[in-house]
Amino acid sequence: MEWTHQHLLCIDQLCARDILTIFDTARHFDEINRRPVKKIPLLKGKSIVLFFSEPSTRTKTSFDVAGKRLGADTFSLAKSGSSLQKGESLKDTGLTLQAMHPDAIVIRDSRSGAAEFLTRHLNCSIVNAGDGWHAHPTQALLDGYTLSNLWDTFQDKTVLILGDITHSRVARSNISLLHTLGAKIRLCAPRTLLPREAEHWPVEIFHDLQAACKGVHAIINLRLQQERQTAGLLPSLDEYSRRYGLDLTHLEQAAPDARVLHPGPINRGVEITPRLADAKASLILNQVSSGVAVRMAVLHLLIMGKEKQQKISGEKHVH
Ligand code: CP
Repeated sequence: MEWTHQHLLCIDQLCARDILTIFDTARHFDEINRRPVKKIPLLKGKSIVLFFSEPSTRTKTSFDVAGKRLGADTFSLAKSGSSLQKGESLKDTGLTLQAMHPDAIVIRDSRSGAAEFLTRHLNCSIVNAGDGWHAHPTQALLDGYTLSNLWDTFQDKTVLILGDITHSRVARSNISLLHTLGAKIRLCAPRTLLPREAEHWPVEIFHDLQAACKGVHAIINLRLQQERQTAGLLPSLDEYSRRYGLDLTHLEQAAPDARVLHPGPINRGVEITPRLADAKASLILNQVSSGVAVRMAVLHLLIMGKEKQQKISGEKHVH
């Protein structure tokens, strides 16, 4: 196993070989997750803090399940009920957690750069579980892993990312991952939900959904992030839904066997119709299953990789 990273902050830090190492490791854990007895003690005695100051169902639960399946102890800290509410800073909260000697801290925070900030002050592994608009690397990894279970290669594939690109850390991380693996990427969004810098990304830009869907192999549909939007970006939800809401009929334009992904939580009837969300072409629940295996892989590689590096530097010191 060639693995040199102590932290997972964004997809840009990973090369194609790193991503494929995560997929291969996840595949092993995916098989274990389907056994009657799912626990393996690879991280027995290790401690993982889940420090989520923004809401989460999928990411937090799957990191918790992932850590426990590997035999680690997991501890949760949320904004509500913690001293963050009394105004304690991110640095002081991080230092306080570190004084309890965790092996990894998984952090979700509304501030872009929060995870990277912790790496400058703490010495345990830091995993970014979503920071502002910036990055959500394990979401992109689980999306890529889900597709890798269907595809031998990404190099002959076109993936459409649809919706609220401006506010989406999932879109930014997926663009980085898909580009690294060699897929062609299309973006489709209203002009008000597409950032100006998208012109410089390795993507083809569309504003018309029918045209964007033509021939694509997968569509990653994004949640309309109303909590991050300022007023006036959309005429109305109905108008957005009429022009950009994805339905089964759009798959008629796509490649045969095209699939639909969504990071969740979904706004049924806004960015996706209920009949498509529940259709065979939808991979939404496969993504959730993949998330546990991918997060097991990430925790295992980061924590055991760090231990291996420490052993190597200890040996060098002795010689
Ligand atoms: N996809 C995702 O990050 O979902 P949660 O916000 O529920 O964790």
